[in-house]
Amino acid sequence: MFADRVLSGMRPTGRMHIGHYHGALKNWIRLQEEYECLYFAADWHALTTHFDETETIADSVWEMFVDWLAAGVDPTRATLFIQSRVPEHAELALLLGMITPVGWLERVPTYKDQQQKLTDHDLSNFGFLGYPVMMSADILVYRANKVPVGEDQVSHIEVTRELARRFNHIYGREPGFEEKARAAVKKLGSKKAKRYETLRTAFQEQGDTQALEAARELLEGTQNLSLGDRERLFGYLEGSRRVILPEPQPLLTETPRVPGLDGQKMSKSYGNAIMLREDPVAVTQKVRTMQTDPARVRRTDPGDPEKCPVWGLHQVYSDQVTRDWVWQGCTSAGIGCLECKQPVIDAIIREQQPIRERAQRYLDDPSLVRNIVADGCERARKLAEETMRDVREAMGLRYD
Ligand code: TRP
Ligand code: SF4
Repeated sequence: MFADRVLSGMRPTGRMHIGHYHGALKNWIRLQEEYECLYFAADWHALTTHFDETETIADSVWEMFVDWLAAGVDPTRATLFIQSRVPEHAELALLLGMITPVGWLERVPTYKDQQQKLTDHDLSNFGFLGYPVMMSADILVYRANKVPVGEDQVSHIEVTRELARRFNHIYGREPGFEEKARAAVKKLGSKKAKRYETLRTAFQEQGDTQALEAARELLEGTQNLSLGDRERLFGYLEGSRRVILPEPQPLLTETPRVPGLDGQKMSKSYGNAIMLREDPVAVTQKVRTMQTDPARVRRTDPGDPEKCPVWGLHQVYSDQVTRDWVWQGCTSAGIGCLECKQPVIDAIIREQQPIRERAQRYLDDPSLVRNIVADGCERARKLAEETMRDVREAMGLRYD
């Protein structure tokens, strides 16, 4: 109901590695060409699991921003900000908490998973249980409709959608809704009004979701509507409530999995990562010593690329010709592992060259980053404040 808006966040983990780059950042950079984008450091989220490890949060946030910028996130296109600097996130999380059944949260798969996996952390806190509520607030406070995330976050977006629906259902009621909605339809002008009615009927009578989508597009392309009428017309398509908080969609893009040096998931804490700005000498050394097919002991033993993490890196970094050469050479013992690794080393160093150069500017002058983020926080806050005005009003908290 509002213009397309992309929002995504990352917990501050400090310097990024090439897994972050291929898994998320490249996608963010692509999206900023096409959409209004907001990208933030989820510092409060870090506290949900690591509430007693606070010494590194701030440094991690700044390091992360340097790497986002170095990777090519463009501060003239995307808004970069810090979650805790926009307190509206917390206000909305508190209010959403009022309508969140605890059972929903206990059933989120990551809740039990993480409790089982992170046994060295105390995860019996309210904050950790409420994680998906805070994440919902992060998204809904900007009325963002597109949220690029990994597969592991989809269940959180599902909670967000359910909370938005519940919010609209409870607080989108208004006396005389039908009449007001019908009056708003007239304001579309006769041609658009007719098309709106046709599409609405197609959705309500036949459940035609394409018609619903088309009707939403029609509204999105209509400028001269008041916010109230807009909310009514979006709500009227589906029922008899205003849409105050639109439901977001997860944006799942096919990204290759970047294996760590030992074949496990790449993670700084496993010590198996190649960083986004790694010194070329270190890149060479890390890849040269990385694990290969364990069955290929001697140069004369044929190998199986499927059992080798280097092959995973070729999926990310090499073209078809090179991959054919690897497959052929490995399975026939025609090439050695060091030979096989060289194109990967070259490609990583080549990819990182402009990234290292861009980073240098920000490392030389940290005030550049501070200013970009200060501007971003201010912009984000303005947008969040607009939503909160409507939310407070809908919830009976308007006092002027
Ligand atoms: N939970 C996300 C993660 O761990 C980070 C995150 C927090 C986020 N809030 C968000 C992502 C809002 C997208 C939208 O990766
Ligand atoms: Fe892995 Fe390449 Fe060695 Fe085969 S030749 S085992 S793919 S490094």
